[in-house]
Amino acid sequence: MAKKILVLNGPNLNLLGKREPEVYGRQTLADIEAMIAARGAENGLSCDFFQSNGEGALIDKIHTCLTDYDGCIFNAGAYTHYSYAIRDAIASVEKPFIEVHMSNVHKREEFRHHSVISPVCAGVIAGFGADSYLLALEALAGILERGEKA
Ligand code: DQA
Repeated sequence: MAKKILVLNGPNLNLLGKREPEVYGRQTLADIEAMIAARGAENGLSCDFFQSNGEGALIDKIHTCLTDYDGCIFNAGAYTHYSYAIRDAIASVEKPFIEVHMSNVHKREEFRHHSVISPVCAGVIAGFGADSYLLALEALAGILERGEKA
């Protein structure tokens, strides 16, 4: 049976395409999701997508990973840098998460250099624009194929 993964996007990522295009590019979130779905299908992964600007809604969705998903690709946006509640939600579901950033957060403002979710993620991919999601997909496919634990 195809593995099921969740592709989760946090605050302001619904504005991709319009939002700071010099940083995040011109592709919309729908464009990026279509690209991920196609690449997922090639790798035997079925992808569901969810975006929210709210911390609670993201946490509720993370909880569904307990029963509904094998792993998750997650761009938590600015919550990356300070949401202990999201960090705890990821730790609670014990499924592999890949932390994704389109921009190279280490080249940007100081507050973006720290992630509170990295310690509970399998790995981090940052700085490759929309390709960050495809690289994360490849990494997650490998983790699931090898049956690695979160
Ligand atoms: C981001 C980087 C974060 O610092 C920022 O708050 C975002 C997007 C990225 O994809 O590069 O919203 O996660």
